[in-house]
Amino acid sequence: MNIAIVGTGYVGLVSGTCFADTGAIVTCVDVDKDKIERLQRGDIPIYEPGLDELVVKNVKAGRLKFTTSLAEILNEQEIVFSAVGTPPDEDGSADLKYVLQVARTIGQNLNKYIVVVTKSTVPVGTAAKVRSAIQEELDNRGVDIKFDVASNPEFLKEGNAIKDFMSPDRVVVGVESDKAKQMLTRLYKPFLINNFRVIFMDIPSAEMTKYAANSMLATRISFMNDIANLCELVGADVNMVRQGIGSDTRIGRKFLYAGCGYGGSCFPKDVKALIKTADNSGYSMEVLKAVERVNEHQKTILFEKLKSSLGNLEDSNIAIWGLSFKPETDDMRESTALVMLSLLLKSGCHVRVYDPVAMDECRRRLSVIATDNTDFAHFVNNIEYCRDMYEATLDADALLLLTEWKEFRLPSWDVISRSMRNQLVLDGRNIFDSEELADAGFEYHCIGR
Ligand code: UDX
Repeated sequence: MNIAIVGTGYVGLVSGTCFADTGAIVTCVDVDKDKIERLQRGDIPIYEPGLDELVVKNVKAGRLKFTTSLAEILNEQEIVFSAVGTPPDEDGSADLKYVLQVARTIGQNLNKYIVVVTKSTVPVGTAAKVRSAIQEELDNRGVDIKFDVASNPEFLKEGNAIKDFMSPDRVVVGVESDKAKQMLTRLYKPFLINNFRVIFMDIPSAEMTKYAANSMLATRISFMNDIANLCELVGADVNMVRQGIGSDTRIGRKFLYAGCGYGGSCFPKDVKALIKTADNSGYSMEVLKAVERVNEHQKTILFEKLKSSLGNLEDSNIAIWGLSFKPETDDMRESTALVMLSLLLKSGCHVRVYDPVAMDECRRRLSVIATDNTDFAHFVNNIEYCRDMYEATLDADALLLLTEWKEFRLPSWDVISRSMRNQLVLDGRNIFDSEELADAGFEYHCIGR
Protein backbone atom coordinates (compact mmCIF):
# COMPACT_ATOMS: atom_id res chain seq x y z
CA MET A 1 0.00 0.00 0.00
CA ASN A 2 1.37 3.42 -0.96
CA ILE A 3 0.72 6.23 1.47
CA ALA A 4 2.02 9.75 1.98
CA ILE A 5 2.31 11.64 5.24
CA VAL A 6 2.44 15.40 4.95
CA GLY A 7 4.26 17.15 7.80
CA THR A 8 7.34 15.52 9.35
CA GLY A 9 6.82 16.86 12.86
CA TYR A 10 6.41 14.56 15.82
CA VAL A 11 3.20 12.88 14.74
CA GLY A 12 4.02 12.77 11.02
CA LEU A 13 7.49 11.33 11.35
CA VAL A 14 6.56 8.73 13.95
CA SER A 15 3.40 7.63 12.10
CA GLY A 16 5.17 7.46 8.74
CA THR A 17 8.05 5.45 10.14
CA CYS A 18 5.77 3.04 12.00
CA PHE A 19 3.50 2.49 8.98
CA ALA A 20 6.64 1.79 6.90
CA ASP A 21 7.79 -0.70 9.50
CA THR A 22 4.60 -2.71 8.98
CA GLY A 23 5.26 -2.93 5.24
CA ALA A 24 3.51 0.11 3.74
CA ILE A 25 5.47 2.17 1.22
CA VAL A 26 5.54 5.59 2.86
CA THR A 27 6.58 8.96 1.49
CA CYS A 28 6.97 11.69 4.09
CA VAL A 29 6.52 15.21 2.77
CA ASP A 30 7.60 18.50 4.27
CA VAL A 31 8.03 22.01 2.86
CA ASP A 32 11.18 22.45 4.96
CA LYS A 33 13.98 21.57 2.51
CA ASP A 34 16.66 21.41 5.21
CA LYS A 35 14.63 19.03 7.31
CA ILE A 36 13.99 16.73 4.35
CA GLU A 37 17.68 16.69 3.43
CA ARG A 38 18.59 15.87 7.02
CA LEU A 39 16.03 13.08 7.13
CA GLN A 40 17.30 11.66 3.83
CA ARG A 41 20.73 11.41 5.48
CA GLY A 42 19.19 9.64 8.50
CA ASP A 43 19.65 12.72 10.72
CA ILE A 44 16.53 12.92 12.90
CA PRO A 45 15.49 16.46 13.91
CA ILE A 46 13.69 15.43 17.11
CA TYR A 47 14.72 13.45 20.16
CA GLU A 48 12.55 10.36 20.45
CA PRO A 49 13.88 7.07 21.82
CA GLY A 50 14.17 4.40 19.12
CA LEU A 51 13.15 6.62 16.23
CA ASP A 52 16.62 6.97 14.62
CA GLU A 53 17.11 3.24 14.16
CA LEU A 54 13.58 2.71 12.87
CA VAL A 55 13.93 5.50 10.28
CA VAL A 56 17.30 4.24 9.06
CA LYS A 57 16.06 0.64 8.90
CA ASN A 58 13.01 1.53 6.80
CA VAL A 59 14.87 3.93 4.52
CA LYS A 60 17.37 1.13 3.80
CA ALA A 61 14.52 -1.28 3.09
CA GLY A 62 13.14 1.21 0.54
CA ARG A 63 9.84 1.58 2.40
CA LEU A 64 10.41 5.10 3.72
CA LYS A 65 11.16 8.08 1.48
CA PHE A 66 11.29 11.84 1.99
CA THR A 67 10.41 14.63 -0.40
CA THR A 68 9.48 18.32 -0.44
CA SER A 69 6.94 17.93 -3.23
CA LEU A 70 3.49 16.58 -2.48
CA ALA A 71 2.41 17.39 -6.04
CA GLU A 72 5.03 15.05 -7.56
CA ILE A 73 4.13 11.98 -5.55
CA LEU A 74 0.41 12.58 -4.91
CA ASN A 75 -1.03 10.40 -7.67
CA GLU A 76 1.04 7.36 -6.67
CA GLN A 77 -0.72 7.28 -3.29
CA GLU A 78 -3.84 5.52 -2.05
CA ILE A 79 -4.05 7.43 1.21
CA VAL A 80 -2.61 10.82 2.17
CA PHE A 81 -2.32 11.73 5.83
CA SER A 82 -2.09 15.34 6.83
CA ALA A 83 -0.03 15.75 10.01
CA VAL A 84 0.98 19.38 9.66
CA GLY A 85 1.02 21.74 12.62
CA THR A 86 -2.06 23.48 14.00
CA PRO A 87 -0.48 26.15 16.21
CA PRO A 88 -2.81 28.08 18.49
CA ASP A 89 -4.08 31.40 17.18
CA GLU A 90 -3.80 34.40 19.46
CA ASP A 91 -7.32 33.66 20.71
CA GLY A 92 -6.48 30.01 21.48
CA SER A 93 -8.24 28.40 18.54
CA ALA A 94 -6.29 26.06 16.26
CA ASP A 95 -4.83 27.76 13.17
CA LEU A 96 -5.82 25.69 10.12
CA LYS A 97 -3.62 27.55 7.61
CA TYR A 98 -1.28 24.59 6.98
CA VAL A 99 -4.03 21.96 6.98
CA LEU A 100 -5.96 23.89 4.31
CA GLN A 101 -2.81 24.56 2.28
CA VAL A 102 -2.26 20.81 2.04
CA ALA A 103 -5.90 20.35 1.00
CA ARG A 104 -5.52 22.93 -1.75
CA THR A 105 -2.31 21.33 -3.07
CA ILE A 106 -4.19 18.02 -3.21
CA GLY A 107 -7.09 19.60 -5.11
CA GLN A 108 -4.69 21.27 -7.57
CA ASN A 109 -2.90 18.04 -8.45
CA LEU A 110 -5.23 15.10 -7.90
CA ASN A 111 -5.93 12.80 -10.89
CA LYS A 112 -7.45 9.75 -9.20
CA TYR A 113 -9.45 8.57 -6.15
CA ILE A 114 -7.69 9.08 -2.85
CA VAL A 115 -8.52 9.14 0.86
CA VAL A 116 -7.33 12.30 2.61
CA VAL A 117 -6.96 11.66 6.32
CA THR A 118 -6.40 14.39 8.87
CA LYS A 119 -4.11 13.25 11.68
CA SER A 120 -3.30 16.68 13.11
CA THR A 121 -5.41 17.67 16.10
CA VAL A 122 -8.08 19.80 14.50
CA PRO A 123 -11.37 21.26 15.72
CA VAL A 124 -14.70 19.68 14.93
CA GLY A 125 -15.68 20.65 11.41
CA THR A 126 -12.18 20.66 9.92
CA ALA A 127 -12.65 17.57 7.72
CA ALA A 128 -15.60 19.35 6.12
CA LYS A 129 -13.37 22.38 5.44
CA VAL A 130 -10.69 20.11 3.97
CA ARG A 131 -13.30 18.52 1.71
CA SER A 132 -14.49 21.97 0.52
CA ALA A 133 -10.94 23.23 -0.12
CA ILE A 134 -10.09 20.17 -2.24
CA GLN A 135 -13.41 20.32 -4.09
CA GLU A 136 -12.98 24.03 -4.81
CA GLU A 137 -9.61 23.40 -6.45
CA LEU A 138 -11.00 20.46 -8.46
CA ASP A 139 -13.89 22.69 -9.62
CA ASN A 140 -11.39 25.41 -10.62
CA ARG A 141 -9.66 22.83 -12.79
CA GLY A 142 -13.04 21.68 -14.13
CA VAL A 143 -12.34 18.03 -13.31
CA ASP A 144 -14.60 15.49 -11.64
CA ILE A 145 -12.51 13.27 -9.39
CA LYS A 146 -13.90 11.34 -6.44
CA PHE A 147 -12.12 11.43 -3.10
CA ASP A 148 -12.91 10.82 0.57
CA VAL A 149 -11.91 12.67 3.68
CA ALA A 150 -11.41 10.98 7.04
CA SER A 151 -10.23 11.86 10.53
CA ASN A 152 -7.70 9.75 12.44
CA PRO A 153 -6.53 11.62 15.54
CA GLU A 154 -3.25 10.52 17.06
CA PHE A 155 -2.86 9.73 20.76
CA LEU A 156 0.86 8.98 21.01
CA LYS A 157 2.88 10.44 23.87
CA GLU A 158 6.24 12.09 23.34
CA GLY A 159 9.08 9.97 24.69
CA ASN A 160 7.02 6.79 24.21
CA ALA A 161 5.85 7.54 20.71
CA ILE A 162 6.95 4.38 18.88
CA LYS A 163 5.53 2.05 21.49
CA ASP A 164 2.29 4.03 21.68
CA PHE A 165 1.93 3.96 17.90
CA MET A 166 2.85 0.28 17.50
CA SER A 167 0.63 -0.96 20.34
CA PRO A 168 -2.08 1.66 20.86
CA ASP A 169 -4.95 1.21 23.29
CA ARG A 170 -7.20 2.06 20.38
CA VAL A 171 -7.25 3.73 16.99
CA VAL A 172 -10.07 6.17 16.32
CA VAL A 173 -11.13 6.72 12.73
CA GLY A 174 -13.91 8.98 11.50
CA VAL A 175 -15.15 8.09 7.98
CA GLU A 176 -18.03 8.88 5.69
CA SER A 177 -17.77 6.09 3.11
CA ASP A 178 -17.37 2.30 3.14
CA LYS A 179 -14.51 2.53 0.67
CA ALA A 180 -12.45 4.77 2.97
CA LYS A 181 -13.33 2.50 5.90
CA GLN A 182 -12.06 -0.56 4.00
CA MET A 183 -8.80 1.14 3.00
CA LEU A 184 -8.04 2.33 6.51
CA THR A 185 -8.96 -1.09 7.94
CA ARG A 186 -6.38 -2.58 5.58
CA LEU A 187 -3.70 -0.09 6.53
CA TYR A 188 -4.20 -0.71 10.26
CA LYS A 189 -4.53 -4.50 9.90
CA PRO A 190 -0.87 -5.25 10.77
CA PHE A 191 -1.48 -3.75 14.19
CA LEU A 192 -4.34 -6.17 14.91
CA ILE A 193 -1.82 -8.78 16.05
CA ASN A 194 -1.38 -6.52 19.06
CA ASN A 195 -5.03 -7.06 19.88
CA PHE A 196 -6.17 -3.50 19.64
CA ARG A 197 -9.33 -2.11 18.16
CA VAL A 198 -10.02 0.35 15.40
CA ILE A 199 -13.09 2.29 16.49
CA PHE A 200 -14.89 3.63 13.44
CA MET A 201 -17.28 6.54 13.88
CA ASP A 202 -18.56 9.64 12.13
CA ILE A 203 -16.00 12.36 11.40
CA PRO A 204 -17.12 15.05 13.92
CA SER A 205 -17.08 12.48 16.74
CA ALA A 206 -13.55 11.40 15.82
CA GLU A 207 -12.41 15.02 15.78
CA MET A 208 -14.06 15.62 19.14
CA THR A 209 -12.61 12.44 20.68
CA LYS A 210 -9.07 13.79 20.57
CA TYR A 211 -9.96 17.03 22.35
CA ALA A 212 -12.14 15.25 24.87
CA ALA A 213 -9.36 12.73 25.67
CA ASN A 214 -6.68 15.35 26.22
CA SER A 215 -9.05 17.60 28.15
CA MET A 216 -10.08 14.72 30.41
CA LEU A 217 -6.42 13.90 31.15
CA ALA A 218 -5.61 17.56 31.81
CA THR A 219 -8.66 17.70 34.08
CA ARG A 220 -7.40 14.76 36.12
CA ILE A 221 -4.04 16.47 36.59
CA SER A 222 -5.48 19.85 37.55
CA PHE A 223 -7.95 18.15 39.87
CA MET A 224 -5.13 16.31 41.62
CA ASN A 225 -3.08 19.50 41.83
CA ASP A 226 -6.03 21.21 43.49
CA ILE A 227 -6.37 18.27 45.91
CA ALA A 228 -2.59 18.41 46.55
CA ASN A 229 -2.69 22.09 47.44
CA LEU A 230 -5.53 21.39 49.87
CA CYS A 231 -3.67 18.36 51.29
CA GLU A 232 -0.85 20.70 52.29
CA LEU A 233 -3.27 22.93 54.18
CA VAL A 234 -5.00 20.14 56.07
CA GLY A 235 -1.94 17.94 56.67
CA ALA A 236 -2.82 15.13 54.25
CA ASP A 237 -0.45 13.39 51.80
CA VAL A 238 -1.55 13.50 48.15
CA ASN A 239 0.47 10.35 47.36
CA MET A 240 -1.63 8.40 49.82
CA VAL A 241 -4.82 9.98 48.49
CA ARG A 242 -3.73 9.09 44.92
CA GLN A 243 -3.25 5.45 45.88
CA GLY A 244 -6.50 5.49 47.81
CA ILE A 245 -8.60 6.75 44.92
CA GLY A 246 -6.60 5.18 42.07
CA SER A 247 -7.36 1.67 43.27
CA ASP A 248 -11.03 2.30 42.48
CA THR A 249 -11.28 0.80 38.97
CA ARG A 250 -13.79 3.48 38.03
CA ILE A 251 -11.07 6.06 38.60
CA GLY A 252 -7.93 4.11 37.60
CA ARG A 253 -4.31 4.79 38.53
CA LYS A 254 -2.97 6.82 35.62
CA PHE A 255 -2.61 10.58 35.28
CA LEU A 256 -3.23 11.26 38.95
CA TYR A 257 0.23 12.57 39.78
CA ALA A 258 0.28 15.99 41.38
CA GLY A 259 3.16 18.23 40.36
CA CYS A 260 4.24 21.67 39.23
CA GLY A 261 1.85 21.76 36.28
CA TYR A 262 1.31 20.08 32.93
CA GLY A 263 2.96 21.37 29.77
CA GLY A 264 3.74 20.12 26.28
CA SER A 265 2.37 20.67 22.84
CA CYS A 266 -1.01 19.07 23.45
CA PHE A 267 -2.71 19.58 26.79
CA PRO A 268 -2.42 23.38 27.08
CA LYS A 269 -3.24 23.93 23.40
CA ASP A 270 -6.12 21.45 23.22
CA VAL A 271 -7.76 22.64 26.44
CA LYS A 272 -7.64 26.22 25.12
CA ALA A 273 -8.96 25.20 21.71
CA LEU A 274 -11.89 23.25 23.17
CA ILE A 275 -12.84 26.17 25.39
CA LYS A 276 -12.74 28.34 22.27
CA THR A 277 -14.80 25.91 20.15
CA ALA A 278 -17.43 25.90 22.89
CA ASP A 279 -17.37 29.70 23.19
CA ASN A 280 -17.91 29.93 19.42
CA SER A 281 -20.92 27.64 19.78
CA GLY A 282 -22.35 29.82 22.54
CA TYR A 283 -21.42 27.39 25.31
CA SER A 284 -19.03 27.93 28.20
CA MET A 285 -16.84 24.99 29.32
CA GLU A 286 -16.72 25.87 33.03
CA VAL A 287 -14.74 22.80 34.13
CA LEU A 288 -12.06 23.29 31.50
CA LYS A 289 -11.72 26.99 32.28
CA ALA A 290 -10.93 26.01 35.87
CA VAL A 291 -8.53 23.28 34.67
CA GLU A 292 -6.57 25.91 32.79
CA ARG A 293 -6.56 28.39 35.69
CA VAL A 294 -5.37 25.75 38.16
CA ASN A 295 -2.54 24.76 35.81
CA GLU A 296 -1.33 28.32 35.24
CA HIS A 297 -1.18 28.77 39.00
CA GLN A 298 0.47 25.38 39.55
CA LYS A 299 3.39 26.35 37.32
CA THR A 300 4.23 29.14 39.78
CA ILE A 301 3.82 27.11 42.95
CA LEU A 302 7.50 26.30 43.48
CA PHE A 303 8.29 29.99 43.09
CA GLU A 304 5.85 30.82 45.89
CA LYS A 305 7.36 28.11 48.10
CA LEU A 306 10.84 29.41 47.33
CA LYS A 307 9.86 32.96 48.29
CA SER A 308 8.33 31.84 51.56
CA SER A 309 11.53 29.93 52.42
CA LEU A 310 14.13 32.44 51.27
CA GLY A 311 12.29 35.76 51.52
CA ASN A 312 14.01 38.18 49.19
CA LEU A 313 15.30 36.36 46.11
CA GLU A 314 17.55 39.11 44.78
CA ASP A 315 21.07 37.76 44.08
CA SER A 316 20.25 34.26 45.28
CA ASN A 317 21.66 31.28 43.40
CA ILE A 318 19.09 28.80 42.21
CA ALA A 319 19.80 25.35 40.75
CA ILE A 320 17.27 23.88 38.34
CA TRP A 321 17.12 20.20 37.40
CA GLY A 322 14.99 19.53 34.34
CA LEU A 323 13.87 21.90 31.61
CA SER A 324 11.76 19.81 29.23
CA PHE A 325 8.01 19.59 29.90
CA LYS A 326 8.47 15.93 30.83
CA PRO A 327 11.26 13.31 30.81
CA GLU A 328 12.57 11.61 27.64
CA THR A 329 12.05 14.61 25.41
CA ASP A 330 13.86 17.87 24.64
CA ASP A 331 10.49 19.55 24.05
CA MET A 332 10.04 22.69 26.17
CA ARG A 333 6.74 23.86 24.77
CA GLU A 334 4.62 25.27 27.63
CA SER A 335 7.07 23.78 30.13
CA THR A 336 7.01 24.82 33.77
CA ALA A 337 10.73 25.59 33.42
CA LEU A 338 9.97 28.49 31.08
CA VAL A 339 7.57 30.04 33.59
CA MET A 340 9.97 29.44 36.49
CA LEU A 341 13.01 30.80 34.63
CA SER A 342 11.17 33.96 33.81
CA LEU A 343 9.98 34.46 37.42
CA LEU A 344 13.42 33.70 38.90
CA LEU A 345 15.39 35.87 36.49
CA LYS A 346 13.01 38.79 36.89
CA SER A 347 13.47 38.52 40.68
CA GLY A 348 17.22 38.97 40.27
CA CYS A 349 18.28 35.33 40.79
CA HIS A 350 21.32 33.68 39.22
CA VAL A 351 20.21 30.37 37.81
CA ARG A 352 22.29 27.29 37.07
CA VAL A 353 20.41 24.73 34.99
CA TYR A 354 20.90 21.15 33.94
CA ASP A 355 18.79 18.91 31.72
CA PRO A 356 19.99 15.68 30.07
CA VAL A 357 18.77 16.70 26.59
CA ALA A 358 16.92 20.04 26.58
CA MET A 359 19.76 22.53 27.18
CA ASP A 360 20.20 23.54 23.52
CA GLU A 361 16.46 23.88 23.17
CA CYS A 362 16.40 26.11 26.27
CA ARG A 363 19.14 28.36 24.87
CA ARG A 364 17.28 28.61 21.58
CA ARG A 365 13.94 29.44 23.22
CA LEU A 366 15.35 32.03 25.58
CA SER A 367 17.24 33.75 22.78
CA VAL A 368 13.97 33.99 20.81
CA ILE A 369 12.22 35.48 23.85
CA ALA A 370 15.14 37.88 24.39
CA THR A 371 15.01 39.07 20.77
CA ASP A 372 11.33 39.94 21.10
CA ASN A 373 11.66 41.35 24.59
CA THR A 374 14.68 43.57 25.22
CA ASP A 375 13.81 43.84 28.93
CA PHE A 376 14.28 40.11 29.21
CA ALA A 377 17.53 40.10 27.18
CA HIS A 378 19.82 41.17 30.01
CA PHE A 379 18.39 38.52 32.36
CA VAL A 380 19.48 35.75 30.02
CA ASN A 381 23.11 36.32 31.01
CA ASN A 382 22.15 35.22 34.51
CA ILE A 383 21.67 31.62 33.40
CA GLU A 384 24.52 29.16 33.42
CA TYR A 385 24.17 25.87 31.56
CA CYS A 386 25.94 23.13 33.52
CA ARG A 387 27.61 19.91 32.41
CA ASP A 388 25.92 17.73 35.00
CA MET A 389 23.35 17.85 37.76
CA TYR A 390 25.91 18.30 40.54
CA GLU A 391 27.60 21.24 38.87
CA ALA A 392 24.23 23.01 38.83
CA THR A 393 24.05 22.89 42.64
CA LEU A 394 27.32 24.78 43.17
CA ASP A 395 26.82 27.51 45.82
CA ALA A 396 23.06 27.24 45.38
CA ASP A 397 20.58 28.62 47.90
CA ALA A 398 17.95 26.22 46.63
CA LEU A 399 17.61 23.26 44.28
CA LEU A 400 14.41 23.05 42.22
CA LEU A 401 13.41 19.83 40.49
CA LEU A 402 11.05 20.54 37.59
CA THR A 403 11.25 17.41 35.40
CA GLU A 404 11.46 13.87 36.78
CA TRP A 405 14.27 12.49 34.57
CA LYS A 406 15.38 9.05 35.82
CA GLU A 407 18.93 10.22 36.50
CA PHE A 408 17.65 12.71 39.12
CA ARG A 409 15.91 10.06 41.20
CA LEU A 410 18.78 8.83 43.34
CA PRO A 411 21.24 11.67 43.82
CA SER A 412 24.07 11.68 46.29
CA TRP A 413 22.74 14.11 48.90
CA ASP A 414 26.10 14.29 50.70
CA VAL A 415 27.79 15.67 47.60
CA ILE A 416 24.91 18.10 47.01
CA SER A 417 24.89 19.24 50.61
CA ARG A 418 28.59 20.14 50.40
CA SER A 419 28.07 21.85 47.06
CA MET A 420 25.11 24.06 48.07
CA ARG A 421 25.46 27.07 50.35
CA ASN A 422 21.94 26.62 51.72
CA GLN A 423 20.27 23.22 52.13
CA LEU A 424 16.87 23.74 50.52
CA VAL A 425 15.23 21.36 48.00
CA LEU A 426 11.95 22.05 46.22
CA ASP A 427 10.66 18.97 44.44
CA GLY A 428 8.06 19.80 41.78
CA ARG A 429 7.43 16.14 40.86
CA ASN A 430 7.38 14.41 44.26
CA ILE A 431 10.26 12.07 43.45
CA PHE A 432 12.44 12.42 46.57
CA ASP A 433 12.12 10.78 49.95
CA SER A 434 11.38 13.36 52.64
CA GLU A 435 12.99 11.30 55.42
CA GLU A 436 16.20 10.80 53.44
CA LEU A 437 16.42 14.54 52.82
CA ALA A 438 15.70 15.40 56.42
CA ASP A 439 18.45 12.96 57.52
CA ALA A 440 20.86 14.65 55.13
CA GLY A 441 20.02 18.00 56.75
CA PHE A 442 17.87 19.51 54.01
CA GLU A 443 14.74 21.62 54.27
CA TYR A 444 12.48 19.83 51.80
CA HIS A 445 9.25 20.91 50.13
CA CYS A 446 7.23 19.04 47.56
CA ILE A 447 3.67 19.13 46.21
CA GLY A 448 0.76 18.08 48.40
CA ARG A 449 2.70 16.19 51.05
C1 UDX B 1 -0.36 13.99 25.62
C2 UDX B 1 -1.34 12.81 25.62
O1 UDX B 1 -0.98 11.89 26.65
C3 UDX B 1 -1.36 12.13 24.27
O2 UDX B 1 -2.34 11.11 24.24
C4 UDX B 1 -1.68 13.16 23.20
O3 UDX B 1 -1.65 12.59 21.92
C5 UDX B 1 -0.72 14.34 23.29
O4 UDX B 1 -0.71 14.87 24.59
P1 UDX B 1 2.27 14.34 25.81
O5 UDX B 1 1.97 15.80 25.70
O6 UDX B 1 3.36 13.77 24.99
O7 UDX B 1 0.96 13.50 25.42
O8 UDX B 1 2.63 14.04 27.33
P2 UDX B 1 2.02 13.32 28.61
O9 UDX B 1 2.90 12.21 29.00
O10 UDX B 1 0.59 13.01 28.44
O11 UDX B 1 2.22 14.47 29.73
C6 UDX B 1 1.65 15.75 29.60
C7 UDX B 1 1.97 16.63 30.79
O12 UDX B 1 1.21 16.23 31.93
C8 UDX B 1 3.43 16.62 31.25
O13 UDX B 1 3.83 17.95 31.54
C9 UDX B 1 3.42 15.79 32.52
O14 UDX B 1 4.44 16.15 33.42
C10 UDX B 1 2.05 16.13 33.08
N1 UDX B 1 1.49 15.07 33.95
C11 UDX B 1 1.16 13.86 33.44
C12 UDX B 1 1.26 15.35 35.30
O15 UDX B 1 1.53 16.45 35.79
N2 UDX B 1 0.69 14.38 36.07
C13 UDX B 1 0.35 13.16 35.59
O16 UDX B 1 -0.17 12.33 36.36
C14 UDX B 1 0.61 12.89 34.22
